[in-house]
Amino acid sequence: MTHDGSARDRIDTGRAHSARVYDYILGGKDHYPVDVEAGDAMVAEWPSMPVSMRQNRLFMNRVARYLAREAGIGQFLDIGTGLPTSPNLHEVVQEERPDASIVYVDNDPIVLAHAQALLTSSSQGRTAYVDADMRDPGAILESEAFREVLDLKQPVALTIIAMLQFVPPPDDYALVRRLLDQLPSGSYLAISTVTDEFAPEEINRVMELYRGRGIPVVTRDREQVEAFFDGLEMVEPGLAQVHRWRPDPEQESVDTSQVGMYGAVARKP
Ligand SMILES: C[S@@+](CC[C@H](N)C(=O)[O-])C[C@H]1O[C@@H](n2cnc3c(N)ncnc32)[C@H](O)[C@@H]1O
Repeated sequence: MTHDGSARDRIDTGRAHSARVYDYILGGKDHYPVDVEAGDAMVAEWPSMPVSMRQNRLFMNRVARYLAREAGIGQFLDIGTGLPTSPNLHEVVQEERPDASIVYVDNDPIVLAHAQALLTSSSQGRTAYVDADMRDPGAILESEAFREVLDLKQPVALTIIAMLQFVPPPDDYALVRRLLDQLPSGSYLAISTVTDEFAPEEINRVMELYRGRGIPVVTRDREQVEAFFDGLEMVEPGLAQVHRWRPDPEQESVDTSQVGMYGAVARKP
């Protein structure tokens, strides 16, 4: 893995990238004017987009805490990690289990360029980063990080948070299965992804803005998201809008129409 000049050389500042648009809308600092233009256009179409993204990030935190604390999971494979945003998954997990191991995967050179901030593991645990595309699962499964950091005799949580909207059919289900098939019984799958069920017009206009910038995106309805979990044991409350999945008591209250993401967690029997 390199996260030096070569990653920076690959960064394309001529067109918007999903990781950087997300970073911009969430108030981060690792983006370019082209991402600001895209993000502003999207938020103009759907002013609740920052709320939805924030709620997704809080969902990720609650899922990571649940998996480490309640499900007893100490190994994580996180696909579509995004730019470092505090707290990162390993920080949430290692607060519960300092010995936890996390393998991060993303295909964007800007995430690779900032990967150092994801490699700040506790001394008892480990973090690693794989520069790979989910559409090429072999590259993930054959990577040194996957093979050396994760012990496949122990359960692993496969977390794919706010990422599958960028993986259109027909390969989407098979790609998730290919990764899950490598993990032992007792492993978990956690997903959040975009739905247009709660603000259809606004979200479909945002989707058109992504597509117009060369970023393929899809929305999915409840059934289509649930299908990723076929054959797995859903954790309560099952599939929910992300802000309704095991909410914290002090959580900001939001309207249904402000959140365009479904999320769920399930156990592999
Ligand atoms: C919206 S961000 C989500 C970041 C983080 N998981 C979260 O929920 O806060 C989506 C991330 O998925 C990454 N991504 C998109 N398509 C991908 C692919 N085919 N393989 C690996 N990563 C991908 C993008 O680069 C981006 O960093």
